[in-house]
Amino acid sequence: MTMNVVIISGTVFGAAEEVAHHAAQILAEAGLDVTYKTRVSYSELLALDADVLLFVTSTTGMGELPETLQPLVHALREQPPQQWHGLLAGVIALGDACYGEDFCAGGEMIRELYAELGVVELQDMLRLDASETVNPERDAEPWLAEFAASLTV
Ligand SMILES: Cc1cc2nc3c(=O)[nH]c(=O)nc-3n(C[C@H](O)[C@H](O)[C@H](O)COP(=O)(O)O)c2cc1C
Repeated sequence: MTMNVVIISGTVFGAAEEVAHHAAQILAEAGLDVTYKTRVSYSELLALDADVLLFVTSTTGMGELPETLQPLVHALREQPPQQWHGLLAGVIALGDACYGEDFCAGGEMIRELYAELGVVELQDMLRLDASETVNPERDAEPWLAEFAASLTV
């Protein structure tokens, strides 16, 4: 059975969305079923019936999630989907190491959400540092290859 990977992104300036599009392409090329919608509501997300979740999010403010993602995360906390217990998942976090302790804090919030919901991270969160890279899509490729490999064996 081919796994259905659902990608969710949170962005302010669009970089996370570009990484998410690239991720969708790479995972589809690896033979996975991929659904990526730039904006998704709680009920739409549940209806997608994901086998695997991949959040791609930047961090804004002082360690906050982008506004586009906040209502969804709030809803998932308020109404934890029971069927997500044991669901496989990953996080790609975009940030900037200049923010010190808040570096990739948005991604860390998604990891906390996973822990609350019993969602299982397949591999360590990827941190893409805007002060180090000009091409986050390409930098995400090795991580994505590993993610795809563990879902297609
Ligand atoms: C106003 C502002 C606040 C930011 N705050 C943080 C932060 O707290 N932690 C962090 O790691 N990066 C922070 N960043 C860096 C962004 O997360 C980073 O540039 C990212 O690549 C932007 O992705 P996006 O285009 O998807 O929003 C901030 C950037 C801006 C402009």
